[in-house]
Amino acid sequence: MAGQILPARKYVMRDMIRRELMQTVRSDFTLLEIGSWAGLSTSIWAQECQHQSKGTVFCIDTWEASLNVPEIMQKAAKRNRIYKLFQHNMRCSGYENIVFPIKASSDVMHNILKPQSFDLIFIDGDHAHTQFKKDLINYMPLIKDKGIICGDDLEHLPQDIDLGFARNHLEEDYIEDASNNQKYHPGIAVAIQEVFGSVSMKEGFWAMRKIGPEWHKVAF
Ligand SMILES: C[S@@+](CC[C@H](N)C(=O)[O-])C[C@H]1O[C@@H](n2cnc3c(N)ncnc32)[C@H](O)[C@@H]1O
Repeated sequence: MAGQILPARKYVMRDMIRRELMQTVRSDFTLLEIGSWAGLSTSIWAQECQHQSKGTVFCIDTWEASLNVPEIMQKAAKRNRIYKLFQHNMRCSGYENIVFPIKASSDVMHNILKPQSFDLIFIDGDHAHTQFKKDLINYMPLIKDKGIICGDDLEHLPQDIDLGFARNHLEEDYIEDASNNQKYHPGIAVAIQEVFGSVSMKEGFWAMRKIGPEWHKVAF
């Protein structure tokens, strides 16, 4: 479980960051990731930044597994092991000059960061409804105009699930609705519904672009 991004999703993320970087002439494209774990998603952003010689990736993570995740993750995070693995992965991949880890809680960091200072924010921290919705609301003001907020683990769009069932499991990480065999992260789906209504989604990766005061779907 060192890599938490499904293979098909990686390509959606890579294609999106590739397009965003190609369309910008600035070298100071700034990404912020909440939830890096061992660095798989980080390396998707960093690889493309390195390839196009532009962009910096800041990673906010406590590097302590959330309480609602499988025990195997909780055990792995003990004694700083996942943070060390993250550092090892970044060093061995040659991303140390592109990736800057910030070992802190997302709740603490958003107050310190400047509004409208990131071109892209990827949220993949705690998936419980309360924390994920807090992260969304706290980090949306940090996106620049025409920037993107996006995240992992939206397996089904809110309009395609039984929201009543999901609302009974809001703080759980991952559930199965036996009535229709859907497996998903209820906290993510319900918070997305509450904040945006709906979003662009492909292979479980979701994104929205800020244009002026509004949020618009992104063409994948
Ligand atoms: C699902 S994992 C991230 C997976 C990663 N994006 C990948 O590609 O493998 C969630 C991460 O969020 C971190 N996390 C959970 N709650 C957090 C919080 N409130 N602030 C910062 N990091 C948090 C955990 O330590 C964990 O590393």
